[in-house]
Amino acid sequence: MHPLDTLGRPIRDLRISVTDRCNFRCAYCMPKSVFGHDYRFMDRRELLSFEELERVARAFVALGVEKIRLTGGEPLLRKELEGLVARLATIDGLDLTLTTNASLLARKAQALRDAGLDRINVSLDSLDDATFKAMNDVDFPVSRVLEGIDAATAVGLPVKVNAVVKRGVNDAGVVDMARHFRGTGHALRFIEYMDVGTTNGWRLDDVVPAAEIVERIDAVFPLEAVESAYRGEVARRWRYRDGAGEIGVIASVTEPFCGDCTRARISAEGKLYTCLFAIRGTDLRALVRSGATDDELRDEIAGVWTRRADRYSEIRTEGTAELPRIEMSYIGG
Ligand code: GTP
Ligand code: 5AD
Ligand code: SF4
Ligand code: SF4
Repeated sequence: MHPLDTLGRPIRDLRISVTDRCNFRCAYCMPKSVFGHDYRFMDRRELLSFEELERVARAFVALGVEKIRLTGGEPLLRKELEGLVARLATIDGLDLTLTTNASLLARKAQALRDAGLDRINVSLDSLDDATFKAMNDVDFPVSRVLEGIDAATAVGLPVKVNAVVKRGVNDAGVVDMARHFRGTGHALRFIEYMDVGTTNGWRLDDVVPAAEIVERIDAVFPLEAVESAYRGEVARRWRYRDGAGEIGVIASVTEPFCGDCTRARISAEGKLYTCLFAIRGTDLRALVRSGATDDELRDEIAGVWTRRADRYSEIRTEGTAELPRIEMSYIGG
């Protein structure tokens, strides 16, 4: 059974948040003013166990999921994450991947590879140390992220790099980043700063439109458009005309892609959300822990998906930024 939602979209992509914690405090995601010392993170018992996660993942795969991405918070803070990777890697035909800030990647790359991870997306917003440290707000240096990327590459894990661009903060470094990653085999993707959560003080003026980013890079390193690889790919891809690789832009503000949104998300405590900007989730943990059968679990998920009508980015206005919603670190980036 491969259900379609009310807009005819299948479920292809499952993003699993394995922890709501992070060791960075990026102002656009977990600002210190909110996620400081007395913020209440989830308790260990509240998290879905690896066994529970595997069960839930299998239910999604039965409904059409082909890609599973582990996110957070920072997923590598979850103890023995490779144990979860090993379980999920037993599911046939999955694209199994991870989005990380790479702070612990140098240490973990080999174990993740051995466990069966297919690839990794690393977040890195600037190559300039002062800018990057101001953005992560924990004084984390660029060099250690680059070490993480190198370690992953050395064990055979393909790595893409994601940079969130905020006007007046890191946009001056966009061409430098392109220059650095050209020819390395790492696709670099620029993400428009989004109004996720309610704590980052988002303003439309802070967004650098993807078209502007492409223009700035194209002026120095000529680009040509590449067809997207599959329905629902969030990044628009561009290749360097001289063959030095590709970049991508994720234009969820200026060119929303809800029409092809095939993504479901589960929070670390097992709530299912059908949109990054959702307010309410469906408690799969309660279902799993109440002894539901695999069929019941699958039917519940299918029911939620069949009723789905989300298209937040297409209806975004300055006004919708005021609506209540959950944080990205909770739901998974
Ligand atoms: P690939 O499978 O490598 O193409 O990765 P991906 O783009 O699906 O995943 P990744 O975690 O690298 O996503 C990059 C960023 O795109 C996220 O951190 C979000 O900022 C944004 N993004 C991903 N999915 C969605 C979505 O469903 N809606 C919106 N609005 N933004 C999204
Ligand atoms: N806008 C765009 N992307 C964001 N991320 C976190 N917060 C935002 C935001 N406000 C992205 C990070 C990382 C992933 C975890 O989520 O850059 O790639
Ligand atoms: Fe952590 Fe990523 Fe959020 Fe930064 S964007 S605070 S690294 S989860
Ligand atoms: Fe999907 Fe919601 Fe993002 Fe639109 S805003 S692409 S529906 S997650």
